Formats: sequence, structure tokens, C-alpha cells
Amino acid sequence: MSKTWTPDSWKRHEAKHLPVYEDAQGLAEAEATMANFPPLVFAGEARALKARLADVVEGRAFLLQGGDCAESFAEFHPNNIRDTFRVLLQMAVVLTFASKLPVVKVGRMAGQFAKPRSSPTETIGDMTLPSYLGDNVNSIEFTPDGRRNDPMRMIRAYSQAAATLNLLRAFAGGGYANLRQVHQWTLDFMGRSPWAERFKDVADRIGEALDFMEACGVDPESVPQLKSTDFYTSHEALLLPYEQALTRQDSLTGQWYDTSAHMLWIGDRTRFAGSAHVEFLRGVGNPIGMKCGPSLEPDALIQLLDTLNPAREPGRVTLISRFGHDKVEAGLPRLVRAVQREGHPVVWSCDPMHGNVIKSESGYKTRPFDRILSEVKGFFAVHRAEGTHAGGIHVEMTGQDVTECTGGAVAITDEGLADRYHTHCDPRLNAAQSLELAFLLAEMLNLEMTERQKQAA
Ligand code: PEP
Ligand code: CO
Repeated sequence: MSKTWTPDSWKRHEAKHLPVYEDAQGLAEAEATMANFPPLVFAGEARALKARLADVVEGRAFLLQGGDCAESFAEFHPNNIRDTFRVLLQMAVVLTFASKLPVVKVGRMAGQFAKPRSSPTETIGDMTLPSYLGDNVNSIEFTPDGRRNDPMRMIRAYSQAAATLNLLRAFAGGGYANLRQVHQWTLDFMGRSPWAERFKDVADRIGEALDFMEACGVDPESVPQLKSTDFYTSHEALLLPYEQALTRQDSLTGQWYDTSAHMLWIGDRTRFAGSAHVEFLRGVGNPIGMKCGPSLEPDALIQLLDTLNPAREPGRVTLISRFGHDKVEAGLPRLVRAVQREGHPVVWSCDPMHGNVIKSESGYKTRPFDRILSEVKGFFAVHRAEGTHAGGIHVEMTGQDVTECTGGAVAITDEGLADRYHTHCDPRLNAAQSLELAFLLAEMLNLEMTERQKQAA
């Protein structure tokens, strides 16, 4: 790896999963246009998130990261943004209430468009076309024109990201996230889920606590934290021309930041030593994530951490393990031990989605909810055994009432998948399943806290 980093030094490294644009002139034009666009986030915000994540490293907070597998132009609607945001708020409330730990909220939102695919082509009947690579590259529509890589799609993705982020900022700071609204966050269709009832109990107790505090003179007017929340954005930094065009030098520190989101992560397929994606992210000051799947060896992980976080700055790196429900307990301890041995400060987060994909009998790509829960339990068990903090969760979810993952309290069956299967890529948890997961996480976090108190006593 060369020593000097520049926003385009990734071009001299091996790049996987990057689209080839036939229209080189069009690509150059799109990049030049975006290079003049305002940054979507400010470097100071990325630093603030890093500081919050440093608290997670220390075991003093929990990271909740979630949103679509792939955002799409078709599903771009204020209600979808609001509904995902409010399910994340509900999950955060459940987690905070149970664990008494602050929850760092990060959306897979406002930029999560590009997708790595297992096959470069897709065949339907006797037609073979390039695979769908995300709405910022080509279209999901199965036609030769739809599957053409179009650089102008990056401009549209930028504008959708900007509008999404604007609404999220408005919700986070404008009163929607006020804890007094906690009852209003429940979605109508969740009435069918027993977890909605449990959420109501939590909400009632929070309401009582707020009444009590108000009587003592503490209210949302005097304590602004009660009426607003910090919400951050993230996506996989896959489409490097897009990321590079939005990479700017911070005027306060002189450091480079990728201003397309607060946090960026490297996917499991692009996190090898010397990759273009590792090269790009090593040079930006944002907090970064890295997916860790079963093929990652401890030595390779340490080498990557040395590259990505040579200064060993806490909060800089979040490791997102995604082993699969049947592999996590065997595979994760080796990584945790290596990281502990080398003294790298990391956030350990669990993605229980990507190692648990199956094809249902009805032909849909799905994820059985019990396997998702089982990977989460395995993740917590490993960290309890190693004495490390199970610091976060990374999920593909939506506030919409979809039927994409099977199981859960409102049992979605194999046949039921066809009802409302809308995802542009991987199957997502719906609102009720997300809430159910939050209650399980709360229980697991409580166990960790109790264990910690016992050891401290
Ligand atoms: C994703 O997060 O959508 C993804 C592709 O994950 P992974 O890189 O872990 O396969
Ligand atoms: Co996915």
C-alpha cells in the first residue's frame, strides 16, 4: 500500500464490485458536477459520532444501526423515511430503558444505494443481463436499457440523499423525537403484535418518569435532550466515484472527510488487504465500519486494523460481524481474541442478517427470524465469555409492513412472503419484527450489565 493517500489513490488498487461505465465522458461530467455540490454532512458531525462510538468502545453506550438493504428511487417517500426513523426511535427507547445505556442511532439511510452482487449477470428465461447494482448505478428493471450503468444516476442519488437527510434532521431536532411523543411512534399495523403491547408499557413508564421530572422542574424546555435526538447516517462506501466526489478537506482541521454520510463501511467482499475500498477509507477522518464474515482470518483482520486505524483512535473502527447463526460461536472468538491481544480499540457490532439468507420454497430470498435472533444470542454469548462489550446491532429493516423475513410473533410463513415483498435487494425486518428484536437485545444487554456489576462487586 503506497504511503501517500489522495482522494483518488484508490484507483491504483485492486477494485472489486465497481461498475464499468461505457460512457467515460458522462462519468467525468457527473463527477465534476458532484464535486461542486455542497457536502451532505459536516466534518464536525462525523467527529461527534466518533466520540459517541468511543463511548461504545468503553462499554458506556450501544450502537443501533439500521435501515434498508438498498434504498431505491421507487420507494423514496416521506412516509417511508418517517416510518423507518420512528421504528429506530422505538428500538432505541426499548434499549435505553432496559439497559440504562445511551443508544447511538445511525441510519442505513440517505445514501445506501450501491450493492455488491454475488453474480455479475442475471438470467431470466433465455435472457442474460448485467445484475442490478443499486439505483445509483443501474435499474432493477430487467431490460438491456435498464441494466445499463448510467453515471447520471449518481446525481439523482445525491439529491435523494440530501432530501432524506434534510427530513431526518427535521425529525430529529424539530420535535418529532420529543420523548413526550413516545406513544405516537407506534405504527397502526403494529397493533397486531404482542410486542406493541409491551412497547406501550415502556412508553407508559417513560411518560410517568417525565411527569415526575416535570414536577421537579425538569422538562423538555429546560433540558433539550428530551425533545430532540442525535441521528447519524451511514452507507456502504462501495461506489467510489460517488464517495470521492463528495470527499472534501475540512476547513477546521485540514483532514479529509467523506461528506456523503457520517459513517461509511467496507463490505465483506471488498475488505481484503490492498483493496481500493480499504485504500479509500483509510484516508478519510470519518468513523468507519468493516464487515467481518467467516472468511476473515485473525491475522488479516489485524493487518486491516493497522491500516485503517494506525493511531488506534477509539471510535474510528466498528467491526460488524456477520457469520451466520450456526457459525458465530465458533468463528467470532478468534477475531475478538486477536483484537484484544493487539489492543485495538473497536466497537463490536452484530449484523445478524447477511449470514442468514436462504431461498424459501416459494422461491423468495428470505431470512428466518429465529436464525436472526439466534445469531444475536450467539454474538452476546461470545462477548460475555470473552469479557468484551457486545456493542451494537446492524440490521436491515424498514418501518413498512412488509413480509420479507419469515417468522416473528406475527408469524410470516413461506407462503406469506408473496404478500408484501418489496425490497430492492435483501429481505428486511418489518416494524413488528424490529421491535421484537429490540426486546431481545434489551434482555441480552441486561445480562451483560448484571455480569459486569457482579464482577465489579
Ligand atoms: C450489506 O450490508 O447490504 C451487505 C452487502 O453486507 P455484507 O458486505 O456483509 O455482505
Ligand atoms: Co443487504
